[in-house]
Amino acid sequence: MALKSLIEEAAFRAFSEAGLPRETPTGLKWSARPEFGDLQINGVMGAAKQLKQNPRELAEKVLQNLPIGEGLIAKAEVAGPGFINLHLDSQAISEDCQKLLSDPRLGVEQPTKQQRVVVDYSSPNLAKEMHVGHLRGTILGDAVCRALEFKGHKVVRQNHIGDWGTQFGMLIAELQATQTQEQISAGIALSDLEVFYRQAKEHFDADPEFADLARNNVVKLQAGDGECLALWQHFIDESLNHAEDNYHKLGVSLTREDVRGESAYNADLEPLVSELIERGIAVEDQGAQVVYLEELADKEGNPSVAIVQKADGGYLYATSDLAAIRYRVNELQADRCLYFIDARQSLHMKQVYAVARKAGWAPESVQLEHCSYGTIMGEDGKPFKTRSGDTVKLADLLNEAVERANEIVAEKNPSLSQQDRDTISLAVGIGAVKYADLSKARTTDYRFDWESMLSFDGNTAPYLQYAGTRIHSLFEKAGEELASFEANIGVEQTAERALALSLMRFAESLDQLAESAMPHDLCSYLFDLAGKFATFYEACPILKSEVDATTRASRLALAALTSKTLECGFEILGIQSLKRM
Ligand code: ARG
Repeated sequence: MALKSLIEEAAFRAFSEAGLPRETPTGLKWSARPEFGDLQINGVMGAAKQLKQNPRELAEKVLQNLPIGEGLIAKAEVAGPGFINLHLDSQAISEDCQKLLSDPRLGVEQPTKQQRVVVDYSSPNLAKEMHVGHLRGTILGDAVCRALEFKGHKVVRQNHIGDWGTQFGMLIAELQATQTQEQISAGIALSDLEVFYRQAKEHFDADPEFADLARNNVVKLQAGDGECLALWQHFIDESLNHAEDNYHKLGVSLTREDVRGESAYNADLEPLVSELIERGIAVEDQGAQVVYLEELADKEGNPSVAIVQKADGGYLYATSDLAAIRYRVNELQADRCLYFIDARQSLHMKQVYAVARKAGWAPESVQLEHCSYGTIMGEDGKPFKTRSGDTVKLADLLNEAVERANEIVAEKNPSLSQQDRDTISLAVGIGAVKYADLSKARTTDYRFDWESMLSFDGNTAPYLQYAGTRIHSLFEKAGEELASFEANIGVEQTAERALALSLMRFAESLDQLAESAMPHDLCSYLFDLAGKFATFYEACPILKSEVDATTRASRLALAALTSKTLECGFEILGIQSLKRM
C-alpha cells in the first residue's frame, strides 16, 4: 500500500481514539510548502466545529494517538488553528520510491470498482474538413480515455460523427453533376473537402434545378435509395480518411471501429419518438413534438423545451443523441458516459440528459457528464481564424506546427541528421500543440500562441521533453541501463527528498484525472516534477568522481524513476517522449 494510504489509515485510527465519530474526514493532504511538513491533517477544525470543541486541543489529542517514531511519521506538530503537520520518516520515503521503481503502474492502484466508460469525443461533422474547433475535443477525450484505461477501467470510444442531414443531399448532387463514375472511385473530387463543399453550395444557391436535385436526394437517402446511399457512403469514407490523417498525425487512438455516427441511429428515431408520445413525455406544440423540462426551467419558471421531432416530421441532432444514450446504456452497458463537446452545446446536453432520465433510458446509476471545453482564441481575443478570416483547417495547423518545430530544433541542435531532425520536429511540434491545450483548464477559453507553446521554458511540451532527454543522456554517460536500473534509494538532501515526495504523488494525480476528466492537473504535476528534478540535478552531483558508489546509485535510481514517471505521464497525455533532441 502506498505511504499516503498507510498514513490515512493511521489518521483514521487516531481520530477515533480521540473520540471522533467514524468516517470523520481526516482532510489528509500533501503540504503545499515544506515548512508545513510533508503531509497535513486538515480535518480537525471541521470536526471540532461540529462537536463544539476547541480545535487546537482536539488536534493535540489526535496527535497523541498518531504512530510517531514507528517508521512512518518521524515527527508531527499542531500548527495554526488546528492543522497537524506531518514529517515523514526518510526511510519510509526511500522504501516507497524503491517500490515505485519496479512497479510498471507507478503506484496507481486498480479501481475499487471497475467501470465501463463510454467516451464520446472528436465527433466531427463530415460534410467539411476538420478544423481547429475539433482539436480540443479530440485530444482531451483521447487523453482521458488513456488515463481511464491506465487506471484499469474498460473504455469504449465513440466517434459520434455528423454523417447525416440535408447537406449530404447537396454534396451527392454535386458528385452526380460533376463527376464520372471513374472520377468518383478515384476520389479526386474530394481531395479538398472545403473546396468541394463551397463549390456545391455555390451550385445550390445559383441553380434552382440543382437545388431540387439536392432536396430530392435527401428524400431518396431517407428512403434508402441504392445509388444515393452508395454515393453518400463514398463521401463519408473519403471524409473519414481525411479525419484519420489528422488522428494519425496527432497520435490519437480513434479507429474505424469506434465510429458510430448519427446515421447509425436512423432506424431508432421513429420508435423513440413514438414511445415518448405514447408515454406522455413528448407532447405536440405547433406541430412539433417536444418535451417540457421543468427541471431546466428559467428564472421566471418557464420550462425548457426540447424538440424531438420537427413539424415537417424531420428528426434533430437531439433525437439521435437520445438514441445514442439508449444504445450506450443498453448495448454498451455503460456505467459512465463522458461527452467531450464544446461548452456552447451545454444546453443541448442538459436537455438530452434530462429527457433520457425522464424516460428512464439512463437510470440514475449511470453517470452522464458533459466534459465541456472552451474555445481556442486568436491573438485578437476572438475565435481563432486565418488571416483572411476563414476557419483554420486542422491539417494546416498541424503542418505548420511541425514546420515551426523543425526550425527551432535545427537551431538548437545543428548537428542532427535530417532524419533525426524530422522525427524530433514531429514529436515536438505536435507535442507542443497538444500540450498547450491539455495544460489549460478544460472549461475556459485560451489564446493560441505559437511562441509560448514552442518555448523551451515554462509549462510546455518542449520543456518537458527536453527534461526527459537529460535523464537519458545522464544514463548514457553513466553507462547504465535506465529501463532496468535498480538500487537502494536514500533521501538525505532536501532536493532529494523534495523530488522523492513529488514522485510519490503521481498515482494521486492520475486518480484525480480519471475522476475529473481534466488533464491539466496531470500537466501541472509533470511540470512540477520536472522542476523538482532540475533542482535536484543542480544540487546533487551524480557522476562526479567524489560521489561514493551508494550515493551515485541512489541518485541514478531517483533519476530513473523520474524518467519513467514523466514518460508514463506523456503516454497518458498522448505526447511522444524523446531520448534526445
Ligand atoms: N458533430 C457535432 C459537432 O461537430 C459534435 C457531436 C458531439 N457528440 C454528440 N454526441 N453530440 O458539433
